[in-house]
Amino acid sequence: MEIPFAESYKIKMVEPIRRSTRDEREKWIKAAYYNVFQLKSEQVFIDLITDSGTGAMSDRQWSAMMMGDESYAGARSFYDLKEAIKKITGFDYLVPTHQGRAAENVLFSYLVKEGSIVPGNSHFDTTKGHIESRKAVALDCTIDEAKDTQLEIPFKGNVDPKKLEQALAEHADKVPFIVVTITNNTAGGQPVSMENLKEVRRIADKYKKRVLFDSARFAENAYFIKTREKGYDKKTIKEIVLEMFSYADAMTMSAKKDAIVNMGGFIATRHEDWYEGAKQFVIPFEGYLTYGGMSGRDMAALAIGLDEGTEFDYLETRIGQVAYLGKKLDEYGIPYQRPAGGHAIFVDATKILTHVPKEEFPAQTLTVELYLEAGIRGCEIGYLLADRDPVTRENRFGGLDLLRLAIPRRVYTNNHMDVVAAALKNVYDRREQIKHGVKIVKEAKLMRHFTVQLERL
Ligand code: F0G
Repeated sequence: MEIPFAESYKIKMVEPIRRSTRDEREKWIKAAYYNVFQLKSEQVFIDLITDSGTGAMSDRQWSAMMMGDESYAGARSFYDLKEAIKKITGFDYLVPTHQGRAAENVLFSYLVKEGSIVPGNSHFDTTKGHIESRKAVALDCTIDEAKDTQLEIPFKGNVDPKKLEQALAEHADKVPFIVVTITNNTAGGQPVSMENLKEVRRIADKYKKRVLFDSARFAENAYFIKTREKGYDKKTIKEIVLEMFSYADAMTMSAKKDAIVNMGGFIATRHEDWYEGAKQFVIPFEGYLTYGGMSGRDMAALAIGLDEGTEFDYLETRIGQVAYLGKKLDEYGIPYQRPAGGHAIFVDATKILTHVPKEEFPAQTLTVELYLEAGIRGCEIGYLLADRDPVTRENRFGGLDLLRLAIPRRVYTNNHMDVVAAALKNVYDRREQIKHGVKIVKEAKLMRHFTVQLERL
């Protein structure tokens, strides 16, 4: 008999979670203005709002925390982290920050000016926010195929080299750098191929531009390169990661994802001038150069997390769980961004709630319905998150409208995935009866999805 697959870890500590009743959930979601960000975590049974900072640290990470050096300046934990990052990425310079968006804020304060154009593949919302708030443009150069959720291609997160080349040919003088997000979260946790990273490098060199990797899920990207791209199946994840970063000039990192810590981030680069530029901003915004918003113990756990997060067995378990959920949804015929991504399943709400007009936010409606069904909290990556156009102030309905089910690392079992799939199936089975969505009552100008207040129609 063939030996079945099992997780590459065992569980040493548990946290109880509680199921609620539908009546309770009806009350809670109304009080939260139909915005799942406004729910209390104890009102949630299975929390798939994000894979960010929600992972379970290992015994090695927890024990490293006890050894954290809390010195304000020159902490050993900083130098250990610097060495770990050098080993994994090849970058010499490190600027620690408290999380990924802080890394963006520090680096972009130095690099992005009013009128700048920053081309990339589906900038994440904080990345876009930090660009647009500086009166600059985040120019999306993702391949068109990423928009067709039913198309199955191995590297759906890729940059379209033609779009990038055209952007540079037209605006080279306004482009401070190119950003490549690995994996491409907004397009569905979809990976970028090594070939594409090389191609971006080639175009950047032609126009003498630098390339920044938004690296939150770089290890998951490397797993897909190993398992999908020709010539990489014999290489280790760590070898692949080193090659990936050889095509970049710098990275911003949300360590809350692939470094499996609850808080942390950094900028790393091979260029002294970018390091010097970032230095000016990290001290006032984040903290002194050798901690930048993190405790010594956070940096200690992060250094270990980078090592564990780039091990094949761990990644196989992790991405295998996402694929497991995807397979369940396939059995029930529920459409999602294909193939399954690295950190999440992105359910295609507009293909399910076909009676809910886009002005009533189908993906947000599906998010609310799934919560009501079984206390499962996903989140909308769609028309609400897209914000309004900064110039016209119109809603941006041009992209996808998805319900993201992001899976925390090393936290839930496949039994939890079965519950998620069954609950979604129940909503799917009664989709014809869902004719109305939600209406905005109150919204912020930027990143409105976190605080928006909605009314059920
Ligand atoms: N870049 C990407 C690709 C991200 O997915 C995120 C965060 C960030 C940057 C910002 O990092 O949260 O540490 O400040 N994504 C989380 C998510 C919040 O749910 O996808 P951060």
